[in-house]
Amino acid sequence: MAAPNELLFYINGKKIVEKNADPEEVLLSYLRRKVGLTGTKSACGGGGCGACTVMVSRYDCSQDTVIHYTVTACLQPIVTLHGAAVVTVEGIGSTKTKLHPVQERIAKAHGSQCGFCTPGMVMSMYTLLRNKPQPSMEDIREALAGNLCRCTGYRPIIDGFKTFCDTQSGCCPNGTGRGKCCRENGHNDSRESDISEELFLQDSFLPLDPTQDLIFPPELMVSKQGTGDVLCFRGDQVTLLAPSDLPQLLELKSKHPEAPLVLGNTTIGPKLLVKEQPSPLLIYAGRVSELSRVQWSKNGLSIGAGSSLSCLKGELERAAQRAEEEENAGYRALLQTLQCVAGKQIRNMATIGGNIVSANPKYDLCSVLAALDCTLDLCCKGGTRTVPLDDKLFPAFGKTILRPDEVLLSLHVPYSKPCEFAAAFRQAQRRELAFSFVNAGMKLSLHRGSNTIQSLRIFYGGVGPTLVTPALTCQQLVGWPWGEELLSKACSSLTEEIRVPASIPGGKAEYRKTLVLSFFYKFYMYVTEEMRKRGVSDARLPAEYLSALTPFKNDVPQGTQSFQLVSQSQPSLDPVGRPSMHCSGVEQATGEAKYYDDLPPVHGELFVHMVTSTRAHATIINIDPTQALQMPGAVTFISAADVPGSNQRPWFNTVEEIFAEKEVYCVGQIIGALVAESREQARRAAARIQVTYEDLQPVILTIQDAIKHDSYFEPKRKIERGDVDTAMGTAEHILESEIYMGGQEHFYMETQGLVAVPRGESDEMDLYVGTQHAALTQELVSQALGVSSNKITCHVKRLGGGFGGKIMKIAPLSAITAVAAHKTGKAVRCCLDRGDDMLITSGRHPFLGQYKVGYNSDGSIVAADITYYSNGGCTLEESAFIMDKALLHMDNAYRIPHLRGRGLVCRTHLPSYTAFRGFGGPQGLMVIESVLHEVAVRCGLPPEKVREVNMYQGDLCYTHHMQPFCPTNMLRCWDQCLQRAGYERRLQDIQRFNSHNRWKKRGIAVLPQKFGIGFSKGFYNQGAALVNIYKDGSVLVSHGGTEMGQGIHTKALQVASRVLKVPMSRIFIKETCTGNVPNATPSAASFGTDTVGMAVKDACEKLMRRLKPIMEKSPKNSWKQWVSEAYFEKINLSATGFFMGPPTHVDWEKGEGNAYYYFTFGACCSEVEIDCLTGDHKNIRTDLVMDVGKSINPALDIGQVEGAFVQGLGLYTIEELHFSPDGTLLTRGPSQYKIPALCDVPAELNVHLLAEAQNHHAIYMSKGVGEPPLFFGSTVFFAIKSAIAAARSDRGLSAAFPLSSPATAARIRMVCEDQFTHMASSSTEKASSPWSIDV
Ligand SMILES: Cc1cc2nc3c(=O)[nH]c(=O)nc-3n(C[C@H](O)[C@H](O)[C@H](O)COP(=O)(O)OP(=O)(O)OC[C@H]3O[C@@H](n4cnc5c(N)ncnc54)[C@H](O)[C@@H]3O)c2cc1C
Ligand code: FES
Ligand code: FES
Repeated sequence: MAAPNELLFYINGKKIVEKNADPEEVLLSYLRRKVGLTGTKSACGGGGCGACTVMVSRYDCSQDTVIHYTVTACLQPIVTLHGAAVVTVEGIGSTKTKLHPVQERIAKAHGSQCGFCTPGMVMSMYTLLRNKPQPSMEDIREALAGNLCRCTGYRPIIDGFKTFCDTQSGCCPNGTGRGKCCRENGHNDSRESDISEELFLQDSFLPLDPTQDLIFPPELMVSKQGTGDVLCFRGDQVTLLAPSDLPQLLELKSKHPEAPLVLGNTTIGPKLLVKEQPSPLLIYAGRVSELSRVQWSKNGLSIGAGSSLSCLKGELERAAQRAEEEENAGYRALLQTLQCVAGKQIRNMATIGGNIVSANPKYDLCSVLAALDCTLDLCCKGGTRTVPLDDKLFPAFGKTILRPDEVLLSLHVPYSKPCEFAAAFRQAQRRELAFSFVNAGMKLSLHRGSNTIQSLRIFYGGVGPTLVTPALTCQQLVGWPWGEELLSKACSSLTEEIRVPASIPGGKAEYRKTLVLSFFYKFYMYVTEEMRKRGVSDARLPAEYLSALTPFKNDVPQGTQSFQLVSQSQPSLDPVGRPSMHCSGVEQATGEAKYYDDLPPVHGELFVHMVTSTRAHATIINIDPTQALQMPGAVTFISAADVPGSNQRPWFNTVEEIFAEKEVYCVGQIIGALVAESREQARRAAARIQVTYEDLQPVILTIQDAIKHDSYFEPKRKIERGDVDTAMGTAEHILESEIYMGGQEHFYMETQGLVAVPRGESDEMDLYVGTQHAALTQELVSQALGVSSNKITCHVKRLGGGFGGKIMKIAPLSAITAVAAHKTGKAVRCCLDRGDDMLITSGRHPFLGQYKVGYNSDGSIVAADITYYSNGGCTLEESAFIMDKALLHMDNAYRIPHLRGRGLVCRTHLPSYTAFRGFGGPQGLMVIESVLHEVAVRCGLPPEKVREVNMYQGDLCYTHHMQPFCPTNMLRCWDQCLQRAGYERRLQDIQRFNSHNRWKKRGIAVLPQKFGIGFSKGFYNQGAALVNIYKDGSVLVSHGGTEMGQGIHTKALQVASRVLKVPMSRIFIKETCTGNVPNATPSAASFGTDTVGMAVKDACEKLMRRLKPIMEKSPKNSWKQWVSEAYFEKINLSATGFFMGPPTHVDWEKGEGNAYYYFTFGACCSEVEIDCLTGDHKNIRTDLVMDVGKSINPALDIGQVEGAFVQGLGLYTIEELHFSPDGTLLTRGPSQYKIPALCDVPAELNVHLLAEAQNHHAIYMSKGVGEPPLFFGSTVFFAIKSAIAAARSDRGLSAAFPLSSPATAARIRMVCEDQFTHMASSSTEKASSPWSIDV
């Protein structure tokens, strides 16, 4: 085999020549670890999140132009970049040189919270601007559709970027419904009113200056890119050959038929992540220009199989403008599908050939291409053959009829003929960036001049292991006239012919079958309407059916955000109350901000990989690491026996193990850890650890199982007000029902991890760790190592999102990493990959609420008795406190005179559930709101009226746990929300819409909220800070809170600035460090700013008291002079601050107590539209009014409101975790688990901070707001429920029906019962063992 070649490419204008480029190395790890460019982030490793987006530029010699496109660096092997130039976030601007306007605008528009997604967003936008300096809103939407953000809710990112929009093309294609252009948005800071809509100033933005861009290296502009020898790159395990033309490729294929071809690597790459042993030889065909040829002829398009999906899309878009309407029918169908395939980065990389040859039925192209009668040219050394693209191409899952030495050369997509009709359909968990459940392509040819069928082609993906065609149905219908009779025949024939296996991976067989029929029905309606338009037939669809033909459009979110300005008398230098940018926003946007895994490697550093249980409940018989330790790079294996201190961690009245010793209680429990020289070696070696188990019974996974086995944790809680049993007897009606709510994965963009560095003396160890609770991490590490806490220092610079998930779970991971560091004497890094993070660290508790409620016909609730069951998983962890919070929120905004709640935490064999934003509140509130909704339905009253009837009223009310509060601001939020949303008017519009549309329905819901702030564990309500003033006048603030995007550091700086009267720019927060501020409580419970802010204020006030005599002595002096003088006068310029919070407490014997410091209030109204045939839904508009007291920073608070709302929208509508019946988590990455993407944000999202609101309990009259708005995601759930009710009412079905949360497309579709759901149900076998279970 040839000698290895040098790899030549550029990174940020710098030439790179790699002598020993490894084909296994992807650009992401190369950038981060070899080049030290850590701005590009790793969040999933599988192309599904966009965090690693970079720009690649190449010279296209055929057009003599340089092309720029985004890729996901995690899937881009470096060896495929030969001759390319890569630009990363560091290459476009920096704080040291000059910011790029994209970086500046995302930061200043508050589009960066934790910042982990920010570099990816920046690079997507930057690349768009390189190609189109004045983009349209649609361009921006498309460019960002492949980038996920878990913090912001996307709106501020869009707001920053839309300032680049081409005004000519109209920047508000959606319109806000108020005739207002986004460019005018917010410019009402005229002081005519003290309400502002301006969160940032555009006037000072840097202009876009193309001369700032790096030029494409002239060296790479070689005229004939495709000529030359076969390149060879050889790594330890894999060799890659890269031919430069077709003959070379075919020669290689004939010599090495077993070697897979690599093109975009978007199928092969993610598979490698889970594969232990990669193929030893790969052939890269990206240099072969014959594979990317595009030719238009009179028959249509011939396009090289190596062309990207973006290229195909571009060709079709151009053709759509060029060719005749009818000729284009097929192309339009294909375009519709292509628009939804993955995100832009993946479409830029993924090739047509790869999509087809992968033979994966959930990929979308084949069904539509097959329907369009496409053909494929295959070639090998011996010649070329043309085969049709149809079901026969795919004999089995992942298999094609291509011979091993054959290559797919090109695809031919014919023009449609005049009497042809074509359409494509797909339905996924999320409208964009999600694999489809079912995809379909359909084409009908009519006999010329008639409505009788000449031929019909139908293909489905996602209903079996391969592409499926109902050949018999299609054949039988030939000769039939298009009409109602045909429809009925086709549906019954499809029902018979397409059998969706009950055991289909991904489950939901009945839903898939329903989609099979619904898609055909849509096709039927589409053709009928087209025939009428083309004059083939005068048959008309009923007008109310037409809307079913228009797919939902993915809009760019627009809206208004308003807040009250500070009083005019406030000094202009005082930043409190003003919308200051996140203090690290700019560093986050330039990629300079450091997260734990961005720290450069410490000399000799090792890596640790967790070894987890594969059994839900078993005895560990033996752990054998022998094979693993023989793997290259393996250093040692650690388990319970290696823990020098204690392997047990006490937690209140329970004990948890760091490593499982004798028994495992869930799949994913940590048994041991493999330490190796690199992370890849650690992963590979860990897979070789042999664990022998003996299974134990019972295996309890679900809440229902736990109820059956009486398997609960202590304490079991009960809380009661009034006399529920007696009152129940007085009610006019009784309703007994239940609601189930699934769990939620945190999906912080930065996975959990740390670097543990032993200091080599006195047992000292430093941990650089992503934790929300540094003190707990320190404590557990010290216990595990058997050293005192003063030897262990935790440093937390920032977290790439936390949401409660990095409070508890990071502590044992830290202990394990520290044990590894202790045993080896080396620094050890732990960085969970996304799959392990999801498996090990778990998330929000699933809940079941069973209720009995007594109510009167006017909707007033007399008594309610609710039992909450949560799935706690295998250890208690925070579950009891989370259940407490659910019970303490079970009244929400309602005075229910007789109310009883019971809370039982189920002990199951699942990974232990943990804290998640809202901490049980979202579940507790959901159940009571379901009660209200169902009562309204039974009474035939509008739900908002029933809510009003039951709402707390007056100046002084008592919660069901007898905590006094004043509901005035809650009622103000409610009234303002109804009014700002135009609720009454829109309700009527919706009713009108629903009566005019059969298959699309709208719904609206408005909910109030009362949410307790502070820890009900009273001792947690404390905060501490340390403030140092240096001789040059600069100030260093340290406090116990951790920065995870919520802006706690920014608010602390604002507080310090106000007290010290020093500009924020002179004050700095370096990190959170247990050495500076000990025993800090976690940053959680929406209470961070309350505690930290007070502590910082206290410390600053102490310092000011000390400085006061000096200031008074020389009032004209500057701050620096005062500080200097104080130093010489031996005044201590360092002060600690402390905040002793309120003594919150609940006496659970009595069920009484002041559980919270105060309440944050709000109200939210959402409108949705559902597609009754597919279950898809679109979030149309949301209006939110939130009482955050006197906001310390309205931009950050609005950011929290929007981010939490969108996270809640995910919880209640799309985020679904799947467990196999043996308790294994199946959803382990963004490909399977869908958090909201840009397409899920309501087209109009308006957020208003309640004006004239004050809170005397907290710092500067503000309120905590991190958690409460999350619950408002449920407004979308209830709006969906209303829309479904409207659909059901058309069919005479009851408006009372069960709907579990999340309201996924599958659930929505199946309760919109109709003939198709019935046909699907009756013809789908029930699985003997379901693919997944509701836990
Ligand atoms: C995050 C993400 C989201 C996605 N979403 C979607 C989606 O919504 N819908 C959808 O349809 N797809 C989706 N995909 C799949 C994507 O379209 C395919 O992975 C892609 O088209 C494969 O092309 P590739 O060039 O990357 O193939 P590679 O990964 O390079 O190769 C894939 C397979 O095809 C073979 N192969 C490739 N080209 C040829 C050829 N010319 N001749 C013979 N064999 C060949 C290879 O040997 C290999 O076995 C998604 C992928 C990712 C990573
Ligand atoms: S890390 Fe590359 S797309 Fe997620
Ligand atoms: S700011 Fe987008 S993920 Fe945190």
